[in-house]
Amino acid sequence: MAETLRRLIRVVFVALAAALLGLSNLSAAGAAPPPEPSGDASPMIVGGTRANVNEYPWTVFLANSSNFQFCGGTLVKANKVVTAAHCVSGRSPSSTRVVQGREDKQSSAGVVANVTKIWVHPSYSTATRGYDVAVLTLDRNLTASTLPLAGPSDGALYAAGTQATILGWGTTSSGGSASRYLLKATVPVTSDATCGKAYGSSYISSAMVCAGYPQGGVDTCQGDSGGPMVAGGKLIGATSWGRGCAQAGYPGVYARVMSYHTVLTQQINS
Ligand code: ARG
Repeated sequence: MAETLRRLIRVVFVALAAALLGLSNLSAAGAAPPPEPSGDASPMIVGGTRANVNEYPWTVFLANSSNFQFCGGTLVKANKVVTAAHCVSGRSPSSTRVVQGREDKQSSAGVVANVTKIWVHPSYSTATRGYDVAVLTLDRNLTASTLPLAGPSDGALYAAGTQATILGWGTTSSGGSASRYLLKATVPVTSDATCGKAYGSSYISSAMVCAGYPQGGVDTCQGDSGGPMVAGGKLIGATSWGRGCAQAGYPGVYARVMSYHTVLTQQINS
């Protein structure tokens, strides 16, 4: 009960903060979508196409006890998943599941693992302040292949123009409904200058990386949070926030995985 009340209070607080900021990064963890145009449960992938989960076996989704998919994640070790802090902050491990190998949410394909531990970056407060990374420990080792994290020598993957793959089961338009199937899209990484122009001081280049076309149209959206942004065979980003979804001039914002390589690796190997 007390936990439910605390969750409710934080959800309301976060939604208010989002409305004030005019951002749509919030909706994880089953929060009610904030009203338009401040953003909402943004669409999963916007402008994407179906992805075969066997080609992206490390792409997982997070579900609650009712099997509702609320975020994405990436399998980085047999029993470890990287996701966004805003997806799992305040959640209990016992109410969180990781589903691997289920391209169609309405099927029972794949494996469902329980979560035994949730590590949220200790400096995380809200997505727009950075540190939007978390590591889940699973109750079993999954046999699916894992995706390596971008590390200290992968700076080139963050160059403007790098084609990155984004994946998720989120909504297909801002305020739309979530996708039944895993979707994917390709978006170019933007320069720090471009992202800073869009988001001002909310864009922290050491903590975030942006991707999207100047004209918009292709993006992650609500429900995609925590899921992978991949380039060069590495996890370079975790879906974090944006203003609406796929809007011209407002690229998607992703946690800059390389910046958290040391702390994430420590959690993954602990
Ligand atoms: N915060 C959203 C979520 O929790 C992801 C939003 C991504 N937005 C964007 N425009 N790329 O699912």
